[in-house]
Amino acid sequence: MRLTDEEKRMLDGKYGKAVAMAMTILSKLGELYGAEELMPISQVHLDGCSFKAVGEAGLEFTEKMVDYGGKVCVPATTNPISRDMKRWREFRIPPAFAEKSRRLEDACMRLGAVPTWTCAPYLYGIVPRFGQQIAWAESNAINFVNSVIGARTARYGDFADICAAVTGRVPKFSLHLTENRRGEVLLKIKNPRLFDFNDDSTYPLIGYIVGDMAQGRIPVIEGMPESTTPDHLKGLSAAAASSGNVALFHILEITPEAFTYEAAFQGKQPLLIQEISEEEILKARQSLNTGEGGQVDLVIIGCPHASYSEVEKLVQIMNGKKVRKGVEFWVQTNRTVHRWLEQTGLLDALSASGVKVLEDTCVLNWALDNWQFRLLVTNSGKFAHYAPGIMGSRVVFGGIEKCVEAAVTGEVRRA
Ligand code: F3S
Repeated sequence: MRLTDEEKRMLDGKYGKAVAMAMTILSKLGELYGAEELMPISQVHLDGCSFKAVGEAGLEFTEKMVDYGGKVCVPATTNPISRDMKRWREFRIPPAFAEKSRRLEDACMRLGAVPTWTCAPYLYGIVPRFGQQIAWAESNAINFVNSVIGARTARYGDFADICAAVTGRVPKFSLHLTENRRGEVLLKIKNPRLFDFNDDSTYPLIGYIVGDMAQGRIPVIEGMPESTTPDHLKGLSAAAASSGNVALFHILEITPEAFTYEAAFQGKQPLLIQEISEEEILKARQSLNTGEGGQVDLVIIGCPHASYSEVEKLVQIMNGKKVRKGVEFWVQTNRTVHRWLEQTGLLDALSASGVKVLEDTCVLNWALDNWQFRLLVTNSGKFAHYAPGIMGSRVVFGGIEKCVEAAVTGEVRRA
């Protein structure tokens, strides 16, 4: 690794122990990935804020960074934490676990991070511009920011994200470089007129298929409607990152690096062309439906964190109906949306219906020892993908309407 004089001073401890430790880690990472030098980045999204995800090692690392005098030197937003700060007791989080979460939150704050506590920082965070070099962690956010906004980040994870924030540097490699952002496989929606693009659940399903078909290559999707919204792309990004670890996709005439076919493939030809048919959609739905249906324990939406417009739509569909006794209905969102919901009265409407709106957190990052969810219903491809392994629950996947129906009747049938 070739370091500048300033970077050598950072490595040698001129700027303190935290910077030296971060620089050591980043230069080793750079060597591992074959990067020749480091490059500056102008913002970071920290993923290592969930105690469940990083564990004791992550807590120790973050507190050590604080003890060593570490401070972020670029704006650093934060991912969801392992508890709702205000209501964790109500949600049966064990006190010892909540305390570990509190310590990690505190360490992130003492590093100087911004308490966004959201996995959708591209909606309500510090949003970068097209082409900006950044270092983001959290798979759905990486995929969205690279693909939909066109900022540039590699896949960063716990520890590397803090090192980037403390030094303002990352290895120059991967998706930071134009040549590595070229589309590789063309995935064509077969007969788009037959697809129900008014059904929100179509988008995570397309994402799930895209991840599966891409097989580690950069996909270019053809045939998505002009009416595709950021909320649709949020669901698609998260599902593609879950099924295929996709960190960048292009959608012809929709995402900014793919306004033309030539731009998406940087003048080259695709390595492979495949079609996404209605049958593929059916198969993806079946593989996300691990439950046969029956009595519902939990309905959950907001993975990634729900936007204001998604919650507004939920309120319209609920239309004053009540959640059936014995069913939990949880919406995950961030503190910004939560505040807006409070101010517009939508939070009261949901609460009168029995829907609970969680702030700053993600249920998959909780200690769930005090809950038993045998069957859950969700509109999230990502949640449906991970819940069976993490929560031990069976899942029925569907759109917001299906979620509401399941919550109100207490029963669900798989599609
Ligand atoms: Fe966010 Fe948790 Fe889903 S971090 S993307 S709500 S799994």
